[in-house]
Amino acid sequence: MDRPTKNPCVNEETALSSWRTPKRLPALGLKGGEWYPYYAGFSAGFAADVLASLRLPSESVVLDPWNGSGTTTEACSAAGLTSVGVDLNPAMVVVARARTVSASAASDLSAGLGRAIKLRKSTSVGVEDEDALLVWLSPSGVQAVRTVLVQATRHLGHVPSSEVKDLSAEAALVYTALFLSVRRIVGSFRSSNPTWIKPPKSKRHRLRPSFERVRQEFFSSLSSLLVQRERLPLASSPAQIILGSSENLPLPRSTVDAVIASPPYCTRLDYAVATAPELSLLGLTKAQQDPLRRLLIGSPLVRGVAPVVNEQWGPCCLDLLAAVRVHPSKDSAGYYTKHFLRYFECMYASVREIDRVLRRQGRCVLVVQDSFYKDLPVDLQQILIDMVSGLGWSLEARRDYQAKRAMSDINPASRKWRERTTPCESVLLFEKS
Ligand SMILES: C[S@@+](CC[C@H](N)C(=O)[O-])C[C@H]1O[C@@H](n2cnc3c(N)ncnc32)[C@H](O)[C@@H]1O
Repeated sequence: MDRPTKNPCVNEETALSSWRTPKRLPALGLKGGEWYPYYAGFSAGFAADVLASLRLPSESVVLDPWNGSGTTTEACSAAGLTSVGVDLNPAMVVVARARTVSASAASDLSAGLGRAIKLRKSTSVGVEDEDALLVWLSPSGVQAVRTVLVQATRHLGHVPSSEVKDLSAEAALVYTALFLSVRRIVGSFRSSNPTWIKPPKSKRHRLRPSFERVRQEFFSSLSSLLVQRERLPLASSPAQIILGSSENLPLPRSTVDAVIASPPYCTRLDYAVATAPELSLLGLTKAQQDPLRRLLIGSPLVRGVAPVVNEQWGPCCLDLLAAVRVHPSKDSAGYYTKHFLRYFECMYASVREIDRVLRRQGRCVLVVQDSFYKDLPVDLQQILIDMVSGLGWSLEARRDYQAKRAMSDINPASRKWRERTTPCESVLLFEKS
């Protein structure tokens, strides 16, 4: 279903036609697949093709302001380009930073950990009452996971902590292998919503993995990650992975030559809940995860008073907002209008920040998906085109692909308003004039 669809309005006879699809490989995080099973990611092949066709000089800096699992930053390192990846979700900063580890450091680490993580549980690690892993795992299961973490991080001279700012690439690799292990262990709680691991019916149904099981999953995940490292060309350029917000980019004006990114979806996807096992493993309690849920763009939780409409969001956005406000369905004028206002306020703030840091004539490639609100199309492509046109950018090319599954169709109640939809995922290539 990844056939490109024709878009009559825009020139497709450019390099875009030779780019591989942004859709990711199915065998995620494992041999032959992508680095991490991140629902929101785009493919490594796509990022590599974009970089090859942009023909950037070797001293160029590439930015991904929504770096997620670090696909852009890894493609840049492989192509010998300096890059900066920003994400507000600490779990994804860890996953992307782990990707910057060299193959030799990863293999040394793996050998060292083989000796450091004992065959039997020798360290006794206490389990805090507010440990968020207790949602899915029994206290003994949490203790097994935390023991592997303590033994591994001790080997690196680290203390396990949710502070990701200064985490080394090696420590990030340890966390990422454990993220994958916990995901596999709690896999039976996956639901029809691909972004959500549901809680068990009751405490009695929590899982009790033994130390041996966690240890085995850890080394199996680590070796899958190592296989991926070894497949990469020797990274010749550093990637800086930063915990930060696209609305306030930690970069000076006009210092970026190109941007490759996929903005957060406009489908009320809760990126914090989607990574709840990872955030919990990092040590974030539920009370610490909740504020993050509100901060991430596109979150279903809307905070504070509704933002006011800004004319600069452009005509497509303003028409949509007006239609949502008068829509007959429940809460359209209240919660849903506020949700959209908040999303577009954050997106516009981010777009302005990208405009600030991007040099003139700099290129920006965005992978964007459309969606629906009830029966109203949400043409996010056109909304972004309007927003950046207002900043003086031009759309150089566009290519549309049929995506497989619409996040906005997951809720069965959506059928009341529309048939099942085939979302369109577009690659938009802009130049800042
Ligand atoms: C569509 S995903 C990007 C996926 C990425 N291209 C990849 O290959 O993994 C969007 C990302 O934006 C992040 N995000 C949401 N709000 C943000 C904000 N205000 N600042 C920075 N990142 C944010 C989410 O955590 C998520 O990782």
